[in-house]
Amino acid sequence: MRPGDLIRFKQAGRVITVLTAWDSLSASLVQTAGADVVLVGDSLAMVVLGHSTTLPVTLDQMVLHSQAVCRGFSGASSQQPMVVVDLPFLSYQCGPDRAVAAAGRLLKESDAAAVKLEGAEPEVVGVIDRLVRMGIPVMGHLGLTPQAVHRLGYRRQAQDPQSQDKLKRQAVELEKAGCFSLVLEHVPADVAQELSTQLSIPVIGIGAGDGCDGQVRVTADLLGLTPQQPPFSPALIPGRQLCVDALRGWIAQQRDREAHPTSSPPPPAPGC
Ligand code: KIV
Repeated sequence: MRPGDLIRFKQAGRVITVLTAWDSLSASLVQTAGADVVLVGDSLAMVVLGHSTTLPVTLDQMVLHSQAVCRGFSGASSQQPMVVVDLPFLSYQCGPDRAVAAAGRLLKESDAAAVKLEGAEPEVVGVIDRLVRMGIPVMGHLGLTPQAVHRLGYRRQAQDPQSQDKLKRQAVELEKAGCFSLVLEHVPADVAQELSTQLSIPVIGIGAGDGCDGQVRVTADLLGLTPQQPPFSPALIPGRQLCVDALRGWIAQQRDREAHPTSSPPPPAPGC
């Protein structure tokens, strides 16, 4: 799977599925389920590393988790999902040179094929342009951008006509800068649908309605494993409860049985 395949899927009207993974086990699950793209999202900072935002995750940690994800796949590489990795906070905000070095590490040290980064400020557009010209495919990300939590919070974005116009302009700029696809997070469905129609690159939504070219979800949210579900990404199963119940059952079984049943006495000590 390559970035060009996603554009072909859009042209053919085939909905693109993107799921996050953070280690070999989750990667094997999402590959077996058939995801087109696996995102090593910086949400792993919260889901796996226990931080309260995505900001603290480091480039070294993203490299480590991307390697683990890529080791979790099986079969020929042509049959494996495409891996996209989030550039973590401060790995690209300090300019194109730092961004190329960071993205280059992710592609050199794991089997990732592309990076994702957030925003469309002129500096970010400059970074994307440079990455693309250096041969590094880039997925954009607009709407709720968790790396900007201290400016925007986690609320729904593009709620008034002015900010919707801005979002639409920014999406077009990202396409022009060479992004091969665009994540739209927590924005009104009609705006996401309009952009999906207008742009030639695939728009991948989360909390952005069903009118997008594809959908992305944090796998731990879909499986109901995270203690706090985002309201726009409901769980498919009560995974946390199922796991706790299974583990509780096993612990209860162990406590219910005798450690040294009297029917079979321990063997005699040597020399007796
Ligand atoms: O980090 C992440 O998991 C993401 C998705 C929510 C799109 O960016």
